[in-house]
Amino acid sequence: MQGALGSSSRSMDKILVHGGYPLSGSIKISGSKNSALPIIAASLLTRDPCVLHRVPDLSDTNYMLQILMHLGAEVERASGTVTVKAEKVESIAPYEIVRKMRASVCVLGPLLGRCKEATVSLPGGCVIGDRPIDLHLKGFQSLGAAVRVENGNVKVFAPKLTGAIVSLRGKFGPTVLGTDNVMMAAVLAEGTTVIEGAAAEPEVCDLADFLNKMGAKIEGAGTRRIIIEGVHELHGAEHHIIPDRIETGTFLVAGAICGKGITLNRVCPGHVASVTTALTEAGYKVVTTENSISVSPNGSVPKALELVTEPYPGFPTDMQAQMCALLSTTEGISTITENVFPQRYMHLAELKRMGAQVQIEGATAIIQGVERLYGAPVMASDLRASAALVLAGLKADGVTEVRRVYHIDRGYEHLDEKLSELGAHIERVKE
Ligand code: UD1
Repeated sequence: MQGALGSSSRSMDKILVHGGYPLSGSIKISGSKNSALPIIAASLLTRDPCVLHRVPDLSDTNYMLQILMHLGAEVERASGTVTVKAEKVESIAPYEIVRKMRASVCVLGPLLGRCKEATVSLPGGCVIGDRPIDLHLKGFQSLGAAVRVENGNVKVFAPKLTGAIVSLRGKFGPTVLGTDNVMMAAVLAEGTTVIEGAAAEPEVCDLADFLNKMGAKIEGAGTRRIIIEGVHELHGAEHHIIPDRIETGTFLVAGAICGKGITLNRVCPGHVASVTTALTEAGYKVVTTENSISVSPNGSVPKALELVTEPYPGFPTDMQAQMCALLSTTEGISTITENVFPQRYMHLAELKRMGAQVQIEGATAIIQGVERLYGAPVMASDLRASAALVLAGLKADGVTEVRRVYHIDRGYEHLDEKLSELGAHIERVKE
């Protein structure tokens, strides 16, 4: 398979951002990482070939394809199009192959659906607090599966899966990959499954669309109640992955923090409404068409905001770090309360090293806007935190050196090249 290990050789690179160069022009947004990962996993549900277009070339998507190959699937990749043929599948995904990516947990659902058993090593991945999978497992149990956790592996098995009412309501709201996982197991269960408290993220809808193209019968995706009528088998399908709303949001913040006016093409503006609303409230000019968004300064001084992260359609937790970078540079005191992953504030210590004035009270970051940020050597701690440091670097005086770039490569396709296209002075160098 082409590109399976594409990003790993660049994993020790660092990114240098020379601050103060205003962005202008336009770029195209890539396909969604968080859609592509479960959709790639879903192609395990059939023996037929599945053809997926607009799959972003990221280390996370490449890991997922490697996991599928390990499980016995044939994978071909030609630029953005991936073909998966899982004529036969193994039901065991060991530690060496799944440890690097938390989202590898989403092979559990399709393997359980197809093989009626699955053993997957408990996931590693982004360091954003304790990330349990109890709701995924509770969902499988509701469908009649037994769950055993031993030696760092989780094993789920059932002689047959039976449709049921599955409540996925958790302490921190709905679970995205948990909803995906239960949906992927339930499509091949006997009878009807109703998921209560389902996640309504666009990526869940994209997965449901793909599964329906494969012959599944799913209704209600995009609401808190998803109804799945089990079918006997699924067939191959062809699908275009939706635009990445977090990449879109990240570039919108780039345009806001240091832009004369930029346009993002091939986007779905409805998916980032909470971000564009926040930017408009802060005083930026945002213009949308059916599939593009432009952001530019409005002539006024940008204002402070009070934001709260919430499940979709609320303000996304995956945009919190980038917004911290922006609000560090706007006038007044802003607050961001993190309701989805309350410990997700590793980027703040690094932003402080660049001159940001931030303090944390409980799950709230209190940000006093400063006139200037200063370039500094900083360390990326997770995917979105790394993006926030690059964004801060665009605005900062001097050079910002972002280390551990492999976090960025997990989730942004050619971030440095796209920012260069917009006029940023950014380079990737070997450590
Ligand atoms: C997905 C996204 C991630 C995003 C997150 C929230 C992918 C690959 N990743 O992650 O980028 O930040 O949604 O929008 O799509 N929880 C439990 N028990 C569980 C599962 C989750 O308590 O079994 C909690 C989590 O700790 C968290 C909250 O529920 O506090 C939401 O997490 P969840 O939606 O499951 O995140 P992911 O699906 O892993």
